[in-house]
Amino acid sequence: MKSNEELLIIAKEASNNSYSPYSQFPVGACALYESGNTYSGCNVENSSYGLTLCAERNAMSNAVANGEKSKLIKIAIFSPKSSLCFPCGACRQWIQEFSQGYNTEIILEDNNGNIQIFNINDLLPHSFTLM
Ligand code: THU
Repeated sequence: MKSNEELLIIAKEASNNSYSPYSQFPVGACALYESGNTYSGCNVENSSYGLTLCAERNAMSNAVANGEKSKLIKIAIFSPKSSLCFPCGACRQWIQEFSQGYNTEIILEDNNGNIQIFNINDLLPHSFTLM
């Protein structure tokens, strides 16, 4: 299993590939699954702004596209900004879905090297469910 530091390095590398000409706000994410597999993603913007894809959902889509079926254990999120990039509401709902009942860790790092760790159940209590 990769360490938190390794996940953050991969997230940082992914943020270098960010396509964010409109916001100038690069984000990179690295998702770790129970299988030990990791998948990364960056944010991808569009001239029709509302079509923007966040780094976290790009990473989780990458996992699905590669056939990942196990639980999402951790997701590291890096943005080269002065404050931490918390996952947006849509990404929190996606994280909750792929956590499959596990209280997924969300590891954040900013440009000053500040690292904070949260759990999805704290960031998204009472998430939407079909049950
Ligand atoms: N963004 C992410 O990639 N993840 C988040 O959790 C929040 C926001 C991106 C979307 C957009 O490209 C840029 O950050 C500014 O909103």
